[in-house]
Amino acid sequence: MAPIKWDDISVEPLNGDHDFSDFYCVSEDLNDFIKNDARREQECMLSRTYLFLHEGSVVGFVSLSADSVLAPRLKKEDWVKKRDSNKPIYSSLPCILIGRLAVVRKRERQGIGTNILYWAVGLITNVVCKSVGCRYITVDPKKDALDLYLKSGLGFTQMEAIKAGKPETRYYINIYKLLND
Ligand SMILES: CC(C)(COP(=O)(O)OP(=O)(O)OC[C@H]1O[C@@H](n2cnc3c(N)ncnc32)[C@H](O)[C@@H]1OP(=O)(O)O)[C@@H](O)C(=O)NCCC(=O)NCCS
Repeated sequence: MAPIKWDDISVEPLNGDHDFSDFYCVSEDLNDFIKNDARREQECMLSRTYLFLHEGSVVGFVSLSADSVLAPRLKKEDWVKKRDSNKPIYSSLPCILIGRLAVVRKRERQGIGTNILYWAVGLITNVVCKSVGCRYITVDPKKDALDLYLKSGLGFTQMEAIKAGKPETRYYINIYKLLND
């Protein structure tokens, strides 16, 4: 099957008319989310889901939610500090959580996941951050998907572990740094 060009993919916010009966990605958890939970979460205003379509079929999706991150979970260089101080001013900081991101199995490894990630970060920086204070993007990648984030060039950084001995799975981008460095 010939790879799809990103220019031939359109994006639509999830609504009641979309059909997911043929959607299949390698994560049963994410198949279950898009088929059974995404609409309810959106109606409850917990997340918003965007669909990526090619020739009328959904080839991927991403879900975003407002969230907050505790300063001790960030690297010290990513804290918001007062001038001449090494302590964080705010203990809790605003972020957007990339809660779910998936690409259909038959279209994997064509760069669609990376482009969905860039699209989501573009929406956050161009729309969210211009109307609401938001300084970080967070994600809790599945093990197999970690390279998608690390290879994106967007500066995903592993969070600091809170509990000793418990491996940290969450990552974040400092949007301020991304836009100003
Ligand atoms: C993870 C997922 C979104 C990747 O989508 P994709 O369109 O295949 O991603 P891309 O083609 O943009 O891949 C970019 C890079 O990510 C890495 N990557 C993607 N899928 C990978 C996998 N299954 N195993 C290892 N590395 C992977 C690779 O480094 C890849 O670059 P390469 O193809 O040049 O080696 C897709 O496999 C998926 O939906 N998986 C199930 C759901 C899931 O795990 N979602 C992530 C939740 S956080």
